[in-house]
Amino acid sequence: MLSMCILAEMEVNMSLLQVNSIVSGYGTTQVLHQVSLKADKGQVVALMGRNGVGKTTLLKTLMGLIKVESGSIEYDGANITQWPTEKRAHGGIAYVPQGREIFPHLTVYENLILGLAARSIKNQEIPDDIFIMFPELKKLYKRKGGDLSGGQQQQLAIARMLILDPKLILFDEPTEGIQPSIVQSIEYAIRAIKEQQKITIILVEQYMEMAFRLGDFCYVMDHGEIVMHDNMGNLEGIEVQKYISI
Ligand SMILES: Nc1ncnc2c1ncn2[C@@H]1O[C@H](COP(=O)(O)OP(=O)(O)O)[C@@H](O)[C@H]1O
Ligand SMILES: [Mg+2]
Repeated sequence: MLSMCILAEMEVNMSLLQVNSIVSGYGTTQVLHQVSLKADKGQVVALMGRNGVGKTTLLKTLMGLIKVESGSIEYDGANITQWPTEKRAHGGIAYVPQGREIFPHLTVYENLILGLAARSIKNQEIPDDIFIMFPELKKLYKRKGGDLSGGQQQQLAIARMLILDPKLILFDEPTEGIQPSIVQSIEYAIRAIKEQQKITIILVEQYMEMAFRLGDFCYVMDHGEIVMHDNMGNLEGIEVQKYISI
């Protein structure tokens, strides 16, 4: 009876993502030193730290773009440490890379349709809720991706990723280099995703106020290590700031 209760409890508290002491890097350069973190279902987990501390490397490692040297990654009840990127993507992990990698020579429509093709969805209709979130994109349907502003490209990158119906989104600095008016629309979009409570988000964000507004939990990195982690409500901006300002 007792063991059943414990099992039930574990089920409720189960994280979607659990990273255990991972070590990874580039060739012989080790970047991540025993990084551990977790994200519960429906949470927005902010990942902060100044340039070069390893945030992008961590997201790439989670996406399987960089090999794990040691440690493990558990996702949705499976050990995915050795899974190739495509298998992770099919399993519901989506990555919005720093610098927005859309196809510049394809139209907005073609960029979106490619998202569907990647999921082998037969009925190639773009879901309407994408345009509720980003109404501007519909007007830009025939425009080439490369002709959009940075903010519009970011909206397109997010829309294309949402079409994949992900369970876990890895956002790498979605507001970097984007004009303030569009930063707000990106924040609204992330908030709308969060409010559906179905998708878990890891958000790398330099813009601290936004990370504080959106995040439920926060990890701060320095020199490839997690140096601080807590519920967002418990963190003092001034303490975090020490690790962010140059
Ligand atoms: N492709 C690469 N090859 C070798 N070293 C890299 C590569 N990409 C990043 N690095 C190094 O890894 C460290 C962490 O970089 P990165 O993960 O991009 O940091 P952040 O995203 O926090 O700014 C830096 O020292 C950077 O120079
Ligand atoms: Mg980065």
